[in-house]
Amino acid sequence: MTTTISPSSRGFNAPTSPIRALEAASRAAVESGKTVHFMNIGQPDIATPRGMIEAYRNYDEKVLAYSPSDGYPAYREALACDYYSKVVGTLAPITAEDIVVTVGGSEALLFAIAAVTDPGDEILVCEPYYTNYAGYTHLLGVTAAAVTTHVQDGYQIDPEMIEAAITEKTRAIVLPTPGNPTGVVLSFEDLERITEICTRHGLFFICDEVYREFVYDQPAGTLAPSMLAVPGAEDIAIVIDSVSKRYSACGARVGCLVTRNKDVRRAALHFAQARLSPATVDQHAAMAALATPPEYFAEVIETYRERRDVLVAGLKAIGIPVSAPEGAFYIAVPLPVEDAAEFCSWLVSDFELDGETLCMAPLGGFYTTEGLGRNEVRMAYVLDKDVITRCVAILESGLKAYSERA
Ligand SMILES: Cc1ncc(COP(=O)(O)O)c(C=O)c1O
Repeated sequence: MTTTISPSSRGFNAPTSPIRALEAASRAAVESGKTVHFMNIGQPDIATPRGMIEAYRNYDEKVLAYSPSDGYPAYREALACDYYSKVVGTLAPITAEDIVVTVGGSEALLFAIAAVTDPGDEILVCEPYYTNYAGYTHLLGVTAAAVTTHVQDGYQIDPEMIEAAITEKTRAIVLPTPGNPTGVVLSFEDLERITEICTRHGLFFICDEVYREFVYDQPAGTLAPSMLAVPGAEDIAIVIDSVSKRYSACGARVGCLVTRNKDVRRAALHFAQARLSPATVDQHAAMAALATPPEYFAEVIETYRERRDVLVAGLKAIGIPVSAPEGAFYIAVPLPVEDAAEFCSWLVSDFELDGETLCMAPLGGFYTTEGLGRNEVRMAYVLDKDVITRCVAILESGLKAYSERA
């Protein structure tokens, strides 16, 4: 007799990431000889700082050992003194004891949400949101309740609308700033208002600041305002960080969670102990990356600003109404199609312009509300300006061919 075996409903119903949904189709397109330009994923082509690469090269220990679960004390110390307290400019100095080093910002998000919710609880997000928030809440048996923001308002976030959506099940507000996929940067006043709302309602604020350096139209060296600098937020703020985007080092898998709330820090440490250790060599490289000179960032930010401007101008020229994102390196774009997921799939598999095509992320999976985002896509401007110009031409030609299909 055989017994049927199946995964849990949690496993069975785990959401697929719309960012990676077209991976297999893109691979097949590449194997068939097409050039695919990948604007679906935030994988920059910018060179990782040399000092970081050299640190990997020079790693020379006899044993590749575990590190402490919350990360090497020397790395946490350097992060606290050389980055948070000096560069970010925190209210009171951040200490090594306020930091837990994690496997990317992704694990920091998972630990933060797990530390402040129980199954059945709710977190509040603004849709369109970073789609993996839905993956973490699914894993934890928590609901991501969404406040809708709109393309016609530049996806601006209104703290009063967030307050109106709070229920007795809400435990935390989770927002990225600068935003993925919207590029919205929360002002210091927004952070203060959200802090005031959280304090009044007894909520945590998980502020995802992994794109902190990526702000445009500001004097060189300006960072997005940080929750670490907001007065009165010491108990409620959990800041999520990562080396992935800052140093164009997505493969390093090093992030961290920063909080002055001792109970949350303790919970994160205990979760971290269960997975033993963050990556050892990558922490050495991340520590070396702290010495990256300001000129590196000035050049990188200017490169992204130019790419953003080329993309926004290109999209406008082909009749797609968009406003320039203030930060990060994504743009959420409405397209003249009914079903953007179908269009993106068709573009990769069935279309080419002189042997080239374009992969984008359909935006439906960045919303909780059924039906929203159906005609929207996310484009990551992580490619060279000339390639972006080419991508806009492919999009224009693809839209025309798509509407003319039999
Ligand atoms: C808003 C946001 N938060 C967190 C992450 C997690 O990045 P990582 O795990 O590479 O640090 C990403 C990655 O794209 C992101 O866009």
